[in-house]
Amino acid sequence: MRPEIRTWKLTEKPFNPTHLFHSETIFTIGNGYLGSRATFEEGYPDEIAATLLHGIFNHHEQDLVPDLANVPAWFAVQITVDGEPFRLNEGRILGYVRELDMKNGILSRQVLWQSPGGKILRFTFERFASMADQHILAQQIEITALDEVQVLDCVLDFNTETALNIAYTAEGPVLVSHWKNASITYPAPDQSGWQGETTQSGYRVGILQQVSGADFRATESSNRPGNRFQVSLKPEQRVTVTRLVGIATSRDTKALSPFLEEKLGQAVEKGYNTLKTEHCAAWAAIWEDMDILIEGDEYVQKAARFAAYQLIIAAPQKDERVSIGAKTLSGPGYKGHVFWDTELFMLPPFTLTQPGIARNLLMYRYHNLPGARKKAKDEGFLGAMYPWESTDTGEETTPKWTLPDKHGNRIRIWTGDHEQHISSDIAYAVWQYWKWTGDNEFFVKHGAEMILDTAVFWYSRVEWNAKKQRYELSEQIGPDEYHENINNPVYTNRMVVWHLQHAFKTLNWLRTNLPEKAQALQSTLHITDEVQAKWQDIIAKMYIPRYEPLNVYEQFDGFFDKDEVNLALYTPRVTAMDVILGHQRTNASQVIKQADVVMMIALLGDELGDHEELMRNWRVYVPRTAHGSSLSQAMHAWAAARLGLVEEAYEHWVDAAGIDLEDTKGNVRDGIHGAANGGLYQALIFGFAGLQLDEKGGWKVDPRLPAWWKSMTFSFYYRGEKQTVTLKS
Ligand code: BGC
Repeated sequence: MRPEIRTWKLTEKPFNPTHLFHSETIFTIGNGYLGSRATFEEGYPDEIAATLLHGIFNHHEQDLVPDLANVPAWFAVQITVDGEPFRLNEGRILGYVRELDMKNGILSRQVLWQSPGGKILRFTFERFASMADQHILAQQIEITALDEVQVLDCVLDFNTETALNIAYTAEGPVLVSHWKNASITYPAPDQSGWQGETTQSGYRVGILQQVSGADFRATESSNRPGNRFQVSLKPEQRVTVTRLVGIATSRDTKALSPFLEEKLGQAVEKGYNTLKTEHCAAWAAIWEDMDILIEGDEYVQKAARFAAYQLIIAAPQKDERVSIGAKTLSGPGYKGHVFWDTELFMLPPFTLTQPGIARNLLMYRYHNLPGARKKAKDEGFLGAMYPWESTDTGEETTPKWTLPDKHGNRIRIWTGDHEQHISSDIAYAVWQYWKWTGDNEFFVKHGAEMILDTAVFWYSRVEWNAKKQRYELSEQIGPDEYHENINNPVYTNRMVVWHLQHAFKTLNWLRTNLPEKAQALQSTLHITDEVQAKWQDIIAKMYIPRYEPLNVYEQFDGFFDKDEVNLALYTPRVTAMDVILGHQRTNASQVIKQADVVMMIALLGDELGDHEELMRNWRVYVPRTAHGSSLSQAMHAWAAARLGLVEEAYEHWVDAAGIDLEDTKGNVRDGIHGAANGGLYQALIFGFAGLQLDEKGGWKVDPRLPAWWKSMTFSFYYRGEKQTVTLKS
């Protein structure tokens, strides 16, 4: 394979049953409307089959928090060869290759298989979720007999048995169904459909398929609706069948059945090949803007494409009421919940390359302002306080407890109560979006209100320490979640200052350009003179902790009084440090979960101090950081590149890429690490290329490329105009 093809493809060859969970996650396909894991067509008992649609959350009564409801596998196929089922754990696998073509968003698998009875057949499966029409899914199956087959029996059905989720009950995890009122239809011998309604939230989801290429009849099954054909095959004879599926929800339309019929009708008229051509063209247009070309480093090239691919398939192109969960739409982890991962990790790549998607993601937060206001009010504050974990309602959905361990002990989860920096993270993302895109319409109608109302929250939240004459924050969790209920996390305190400075910039811009809007917002959000005076005071007197003996920022009050742990002694390591040390010991130590002060360096850079100052902090904090979160290393890569530590930056980048590609943390089965992928993209553009806004208006680059990279080329939009940059090392 030539490098330009190799770097566009993920390939699994030969069949490796020990890596199935990893593969079924990283080979996920999607189109920003849904994600569909790459489990096999024939289905296996232990697989995690999931097709997840944005916004279809449901709170199962047995579970702690809402989850994205899993819909039936739309690509299921049951094949029998002269009475023997086609299964990889039966008969012999003579040849096998599974491929994800990231350029075109197409998943395929070829298997040369010998049945237990000795018949050899070649199977080719191909499927995609149309990027040209988000309601269309397509699959093609080719079966070639190398020996004579009397009866090849194939059922293309919807596997409703996979439409289950895991719920965490007092008795432990159990499988639950989020569906009620399921209905099954067989409109024609070559069509079948399934519809269901979520038990608590009442969303309806429908799928309708049409199959072609053989003499199909409806299965008439009451739980696995589908269509079936039977043929005899002579040696070298091949049968090719196609399945087209329409999928939609009550979030899209009130008239689900007619909508599905219309969508499917259009797709059938076009046919598989035209749909595929349109799908590939839609992907080509996205890559035109989003591909980063790196010459001289095949691994980074491929990993950069993988990172972008995973972001693209999860990013809502047309829907401003949904956002990307921490594990994208590729697995059950975090139940589809949305964290700061979106705004600070996954969204910025879209701000630069697909501003419409970035806008949708920010609008999700705008529409959820009522939830944020409710959270502030419930906790006795003013303004808007965004939830740490968010779903379709915008209310706080962080579970309060972990699952019980084997002794029945549970640990209280404090992030939903105390990880409050998310409100400023969202404000930061709004501001960056506005500065890069120049989307004044968004800023005036929506963005300004988000920045200002979250600033009102801080007005009510900060605490005045009269003795020390400074503002403080107690009972917090910063990005480093190994330390809970701490005081004055420097990341949060410093971001509050940034936030309030930009609240003033927002107000001043509005006053100059749209005084009436400034007036209106001041009045509806109660931004009185007193509020503004206090904002000024907070900017001047917010406590930004420092640790004088080392002359660095102090991650939070008393951080350096905690136990020192020499992390070098624990390398190499797969297990997370909090698991090795235990929760309490970790809490009592200086072991840091993830980029915290380093995160601040990535985001605020020079605003924090000169190069020497930043280097001092880097040298103190990096050896103490255990990278217990997938969010950590890409931020280290970004910050290191800015500090001129190119080799360190490279090592962190490659480690961050390995989280999904090599499953180095061993948890890819739960889903893709969306933030790591967003971070990888940002580390390339903001870190290695050094793209930044210019104080004078405009943009500039300040490249720090590894010496062996021949060049790096990327595009982005600045105020609506496409810019393309090529850097040589
Ligand atoms: C990290 C958080 C992150 C969450 C979801 C946690 O392990 O510490 O920063 O938001 O995972 O990815």
